[in-house]
Amino acid sequence: MAFLLEANAVTPSHEAPILLQCFAARLRVPLKMANIAKIFATRAQGVLQAAARQPQVATRFSSSSTKNWEYIKTEVAGESKNVAVITLNRPKALNALCNGLMKELSTALQQFSKDKSISAIVLTGSEKAFAAGADIKEMVGNTYSQCIQGNFLNDWTEVARTQKPIIAAVNGYALGGGCELAMMCDIIYAGDKAKFGQPEIALGTIPGAGGTQRLTRVVGKSKAMEMCLTGNMIGAQEAEKLGLASKVVPADQLLGEAVKLGEKIGTHSNLIVQLCKEAVNTAYETTLQEGLKFERRTFHATFSTADRKEGMTAFAEKRPAKFTNE
Ligand code: CAA
Repeated sequence: MAFLLEANAVTPSHEAPILLQCFAARLRVPLKMANIAKIFATRAQGVLQAAARQPQVATRFSSSSTKNWEYIKTEVAGESKNVAVITLNRPKALNALCNGLMKELSTALQQFSKDKSISAIVLTGSEKAFAAGADIKEMVGNTYSQCIQGNFLNDWTEVARTQKPIIAAVNGYALGGGCELAMMCDIIYAGDKAKFGQPEIALGTIPGAGGTQRLTRVVGKSKAMEMCLTGNMIGAQEAEKLGLASKVVPADQLLGEAVKLGEKIGTHSNLIVQLCKEAVNTAYETTLQEGLKFERRTFHATFSTADRKEGMTAFAEKRPAKFTNE
């Protein structure tokens, strides 16, 4: 698998979708070994030729800036430019989540959600901090009545509402609202120095953007209690062991790995990916019986799509599927 992905890294962009579809098809179709060997041999030749041309290892992460913001950066990445990358960019405050930053994040998410060329979104920060929480200095003077009447933190929910898959690529601190923001995403990849925690208790408050709820559902009551009541942080390895992060990678490879993941998701039908995400999320919202019913109905609904027909026809015809997101 690593070989195929690496091969794709040096594949001309017009060929990349074909290779990715072969790759996707391989997961579902037990291609004959001869065909696989042929693909490997052809790609290996390409890799060797490209390696000879460029001495450095080809990187998967190529990006182009799309817009200037004050607190974030947005780019599109990947061979097919179908993975959006949003980088929290408030380094002096360790990406503390001030109102301005959260507004920009919501706007960027809405824009990428509407953009049909985008299959997945990666949310990341800096090497030192994904985000060190809500902006303490900004909220220090807040009163109870202001919080109630202004519905404080209500506008943080855009991440959890986004229909496209979001991958949090967490390096450094993910504390308080930063940890909560990562948990609003669908998948967390952690750099090996990442630290997760809910330290609100030390500030005389409690998590306010899902820490007591999402963390408990992921790591269980005992660990969530321990983290929320002590404010102690956990490292990347422990986060992976607990199921909070699905993968730990060296910090400098984190973004590339997250983009690769977004690209892999992007080889499938965006429409079916959206339905699948909704079904998995339903597991957190309802009883098992209701969830199973929802899943079955959604499964049935895929039979009304062109992509379901294409996916199964392609399997039967032993060829890569060409999805149209219809
Ligand atoms: N809000 C505002 N500013 C913050 C901040 C935050 N959450 N976290 C860090 N900063 C600022 C610091 O004030 C500092 O600014 P100055 O240079 O102007 O003093 C700068 O970022 C660098 O921080 P440190 O000097 O503290 O860096 P460090 O490496 O010594 O420590 C840290 C790093 C352990 C993350 C420490 O900054 C820290 O404990 N931050 C606060 C973490 C926290 O309590 N988060 C929870 C916030 S409440 C919340 O999120 C509620 C919710 O549920 C939504």
